[in-house]
Amino acid sequence: MSSSSVSKCPILDPTGSDLHGEAAALRARGPAVRVELPGPVLAWSVTRHSVIQALLTDPRVSRDFRRHWPGRSEVPEGWVLAGIAFQESFFNSYGAEHHKARGRLAPAFSPRRVERLRPQVQATADLLVDALAARPPGTSVDLRRELSLPLTMTVICDLFGVPDHLRAPIGSAIDGILESALGPEEMVVRLTELNDRLTQLLRYKQEHPADDLTGDLLLADRPGEEPMPEPELLGTMSAMIGAGYETSVNVITSAVHALLAHPESLAAVRDKAIGWRDVIEETLRVQAPVMHMPLRYAVAEIDLGEGVVIAEGDPIIIGFAAAGRDPALHPDRPDEFDPTRASKEHLAFGYGPHFCLGAHLARLETEIALSTLFERLPGLALARPGQEPARLASMMVNGPAALEVVPTPV
Ligand code: HEM
Repeated sequence: MSSSSVSKCPILDPTGSDLHGEAAALRARGPAVRVELPGPVLAWSVTRHSVIQALLTDPRVSRDFRRHWPGRSEVPEGWVLAGIAFQESFFNSYGAEHHKARGRLAPAFSPRRVERLRPQVQATADLLVDALAARPPGTSVDLRRELSLPLTMTVICDLFGVPDHLRAPIGSAIDGILESALGPEEMVVRLTELNDRLTQLLRYKQEHPADDLTGDLLLADRPGEEPMPEPELLGTMSAMIGAGYETSVNVITSAVHALLAHPESLAAVRDKAIGWRDVIEETLRVQAPVMHMPLRYAVAEIDLGEGVVIAEGDPIIIGFAAAGRDPALHPDRPDEFDPTRASKEHLAFGYGPHFCLGAHLARLETEIALSTLFERLPGLALARPGQEPARLASMMVNGPAALEVVPTPV
């Protein structure tokens, strides 16, 4: 975070070079702090757990930029956050409209339906971990690229019925828009690329209808109702595939790093003193994969106390990953990874009406990835112990850009 000469507000670092340090400084300043986002766009940053929870359930807060952000017309073309903030999908909707659109997809993500995916996820994890085990002893590999990414990409693409030839291109097009330190021209190119890839997918699915999530979206809602307009269909597919892939990649990679960097925690899992779920929740608390998912808007004036009043129409940016490290919630070593701690409360999956639909699936994938990896590769080690992996250059997603490990040490 630095001081801006234009707005006199702190500037949120678009490269996310110190996401947690930045959030801690903002949390200390007040319940909400006016910050400058790339654009420049001014928004209220919220990093305290209790305030995040309150705003995420407050009907005076909306994600609908069309209805509730009068300032959107001033945003320059190629705005680096447009890929998420202006996405035409139910993510960016409000009230009854949101409730209805979400209801259409929610059944596919119930705990029972997700549990049915277990054998398929396990089979994919087995294949990927077998490939790691087959590496010559002493070779190092990037775990993010060799396990986390192909596992989560396979799961989400299976759910949406994405054909093999479009999986890698769609994955890299989504990665492309999550970088938040790009110039406007580059961003326009990347948004066009993503749109082209998703249009390709949509055409393919229209020609090859199947019983999958894309099929559910393509079905007209009820007799007499209009089918979803194409921009919204593309936006929903992009939102769902993006939300379900990049986030889970990060929680798996962060959890593996945390366990290898804290052998005492790994030993506690092996001794059955704690379970994989403890590791997963603690990883979500200290290294939540989403820091910001812009934006929200005040539908009416909101007085947060301490002299902070959010005016109607003002943008709000929630620091999801900041909530789990709030010392008001976790006074005991909030920044330290300790899966044996009793309370691991976090808001990594959000809260309220937009609570993550994929939370069960993300937990299932991560549990399978961790158990398969550590059971099959008991000697797994960091290639460069003591060295922090480089982070993703993003103010939206939080995770290691790569994680070099040695599957089988010599
Ligand atoms: C560890 C992995 C994941 C994390 C940390 C995560 C995080 C989040 C967060 C913070 C939100 C709330 C956004 C907001 O309120 O502005 C959210 C919403 C959402 N997530 Fe996830 N997510 C994960 C995995 C997934 C997966 C695997 C899927 C689907 C396959 C998914 C689908 C969604 C959807 C559809 C929403 C929007 C719900 C709505 O607006 O009603 N997520 N996620």
